[in-house]
Amino acid sequence: MIFDENKGMYFPTEDIVNQANVKEYEKLYKYSIEHREEFWAEQAEYLDWFKKWDKVLDDTDKPFYKWFQGGKINIVHNAIDRHLKTANRNKIAVIWEGENGDVRTFSYHALNREVSKFANVLKSMGVKKGDIVTIYMPQIPEQIFAMLACAKIGAVHSVVYGGFSNEALSERIRDAESRVVVTADGGFRRGKVTDLKGIVNEAVVLCPTVEVVITVKRTGHDVYMENDRDYWYHDLESLPIASPNCETEETDANDMLFLLYTSGSTGKPKGMMHSHGGYSVYTSTTHRMVFDIKPEDRFWCAADPGWITGHSYLLYAPLINGSTIFMYEGAPNHPYPNRWWRMIEKYGINILYTSPTAIRGLMRYGDSWVTRHDLSSLRLLGSVGEPINPEAWRWYYKVVGGEKCPIMDTWWQTETGGFMITPLPIMPLKPGSASKPFFGNEISVVNEQHEEVKAGEEGALVIKNVWPGLASGIYKDPEKFVETYWKKYEKEGWYHPGDSARIDEDGYIWVIGRSDDVIKVSGYRLGTAEIESALVSHPLVVEAGVIPLPHNLKGNAIHAFVILKTGTSPSRELETELKEHVVKMMGPIAKPEEIIFSESLPKTRSGKIMRRVLKARALGQDEGDISTLEE
Ligand code: WT7
Repeated sequence: MIFDENKGMYFPTEDIVNQANVKEYEKLYKYSIEHREEFWAEQAEYLDWFKKWDKVLDDTDKPFYKWFQGGKINIVHNAIDRHLKTANRNKIAVIWEGENGDVRTFSYHALNREVSKFANVLKSMGVKKGDIVTIYMPQIPEQIFAMLACAKIGAVHSVVYGGFSNEALSERIRDAESRVVVTADGGFRRGKVTDLKGIVNEAVVLCPTVEVVITVKRTGHDVYMENDRDYWYHDLESLPIASPNCETEETDANDMLFLLYTSGSTGKPKGMMHSHGGYSVYTSTTHRMVFDIKPEDRFWCAADPGWITGHSYLLYAPLINGSTIFMYEGAPNHPYPNRWWRMIEKYGINILYTSPTAIRGLMRYGDSWVTRHDLSSLRLLGSVGEPINPEAWRWYYKVVGGEKCPIMDTWWQTETGGFMITPLPIMPLKPGSASKPFFGNEISVVNEQHEEVKAGEEGALVIKNVWPGLASGIYKDPEKFVETYWKKYEKEGWYHPGDSARIDEDGYIWVIGRSDDVIKVSGYRLGTAEIESALVSHPLVVEAGVIPLPHNLKGNAIHAFVILKTGTSPSRELETELKEHVVKMMGPIAKPEEIIFSESLPKTRSGKIMRRVLKARALGQDEGDISTLEE
């Protein structure tokens, strides 16, 4: 790339532009806005449909939009089946490396066999179209086989990130009313064995709907298996029922594909629903255009499939586009901080997509861990999950990308299914800005009166249109969907993402962060209310208020203000105990950085904790308008 010092921008070289799948932004953008439905219909033509749609967008039941209404499609038919009839059949679909050095590869042909076997096993356990299967697994190939197997037979997967605690898992299984849970005995993380099956055993005690638990053997450590409930996957797989042939179900475009729980401003995680049609179109289009996908690409999305990034860009979009995906089980610095770079060199990875937290984490070990490896296979880099600070951007650009790889800083959410704000490889880049709206999207920053703010001013990010990747709703809670995303701009019909941002004179969008009660810690999304209720569930805690404070590595860290039961005195031990209590209730990602014992919490007269005031106090800043404060 070429750096223009005056503008502070990085310009693509001719090479990058010449080979790009999309060579021009403005014109296509204009077309995609003026002819939104035609644009998306054209993109949908890249996929194989059992039956074409009757209507591109059905908006009769706003905000429950239906894309490609009347169409029949299955995401697995596009991600696997159709490749079997082409030269992709013998191409590597998945390369997997375990933390302990195990390597497994699967061609599209082999992937189809594994997924079909898993699908037949699920069927033999009575899983039918529309049933929700909960998947709680380490990052091993069977995790994605299980997801694809569900989709193949028209069942719905609900993947719960393997770092969640038994309480969090149990709550999600109960909400989804899963009858079948798929797990593994454990996985390897930093050289240790994680006991996933032990966590599942505890979780399902509180889940009356669970009848079957299928366990994949990964680590071989001793686990408790209950008669008539627990089955080893390798036992089932060796039975005649697990045939490698299985018909792919012809699902409706708007049939549910998966449920994925995400945190919001209330204590209860929301099950976001995505469906086969619109999601397939949106994820594969964004992936193809933004990551400039070529048939020979080896694409590595370093996210866990337990998050939306993993669903959309580790699994579905790259397989739809016929890429070779790379998947790694463990920690980035195990056994040494060059683990990632060694694997990029070894497998000749072309595109790396990761988070600012991971970049900052690896940056601190110094350049020589990276530069001793030949990373010349890399062509493009990506970032997601939180704003990337310019320092981390420059390091990623210079040391990892060798000053030749454009960085795609993609802004999106679990709810949006795929990229909403992103550069394209042909665009000049500004470190720290997610650049421009993706095709079809009109994005603005507005003030409290819903008027567009001036260039450079901060305000609320709004999306003024709908797109095929948009979630179809919240499982079992349609009102919550309306209230959270559509109420605020009801009159205008805009989508409310809950982020604040500014747009500069060049139309570049700079996302600042969440403006609601959601905290991004290391790119993970957590609700303050969830952490507060975890704290309050401890017998010695009466009340808690949680805020994010800036953190060098994690972006934000959790700071909790806690009021103890009268007669209890604060202590170091109690601080540790409370932190561990949150880990037990939610999982290690929610562990507070600091517990501050307080006598009172700033509240409004209606009793709402004023987190804004807590934050200002903690940072020694002006508390702002505190006229509604009741103290
Ligand atoms: C929130 C959504 C979407 C995949 C991972 C996160 C923040 C995401 C960026 C970015 C600045 C970003 C936003 C958003 N976010 N990407 N490139 N720059 N902020 O999905 O867990 O649903 O979180 O992540 O605050 O609202 P999620």
